[in-house]
Amino acid sequence: MTERWLSTTRSSYDADAAGYAEQVRGLLDCNPYLRASLALFAELVRDAGGGPVVDVGCGPGYVTRHLNDLGVDASGIDLSPEMVALAQRDYPGLQFSVGTMTDLDLPDASVTGVLAFWSVIHVPDHAVPGVFAQFHRVLRPGGPLLVGFHVGAEKRHTAEGYSGRPVDVDSYRRRPDQVAGWLRQAGFAVEAELVMRPDEEVPGAIIIARNAEGLPAD
Ligand SMILES: C[S@@+](CC[C@H](N)C(=O)[O-])C[C@H]1O[C@@H](n2cnc3c(N)ncnc32)[C@H](O)[C@@H]1O
Repeated sequence: MTERWLSTTRSSYDADAAGYAEQVRGLLDCNPYLRASLALFAELVRDAGGGPVVDVGCGPGYVTRHLNDLGVDASGIDLSPEMVALAQRDYPGLQFSVGTMTDLDLPDASVTGVLAFWSVIHVPDHAVPGVFAQFHRVLRPGGPLLVGFHVGAEKRHTAEGYSGRPVDVDSYRRRPDQVAGWLRQAGFAVEAELVMRPDEEVPGAIIIARNAEGLPAD
């Protein structure tokens, strides 16, 4: 792992894994937009024929678990060994592994769906095209991708984690059209964009796209 942002992001989530897990506990229960987006993603995976799905940057694993509850064969990958340990502890029946979205340890066209729920937020601009190329490589033609992120136009640095421990992690807020542009360049067809609570200081956004290989041309 040569890039500094990867090692600081990993050590930050290692230091704050329990604090983060506590922070997001019950999040899906109180957010119908997130639940609806995951239900839509599950339907798209079924429509694409079912099969394995990877939750990239899965954190403590509750989204991976939710997808499994929806009937999706989802496993999780995360940069932080501490996050993966938490996910394995809390959801022992599911598969979680340590890895990076910059170099996914998955064969080409091996998954039917890719989910990146607020994990690409830590990837600096220069590395986003490479990450989206990885998502495209591992996805079967026509398979759905869901990307969630914070809306805005600035980089934020966090020095204290939810647990009060010191961390050193950057997060990037982005305009949906910028993310959609990167996805198109990587070979995705963008199918839907949802901006949640647009009047709040930091809205959330979800983009759903498909690996455009094998899709009928317009
Ligand atoms: C904000 S948390 C989101 C966790 C979870 N997806 C959720 O929605 O609660 C970001 C997660 O992305 C992971 N992450 C950051 N960079 C990554 C990378 N290059 N590869 C894999 N995971 C990464 C972090 O370790 C962290 O668990």
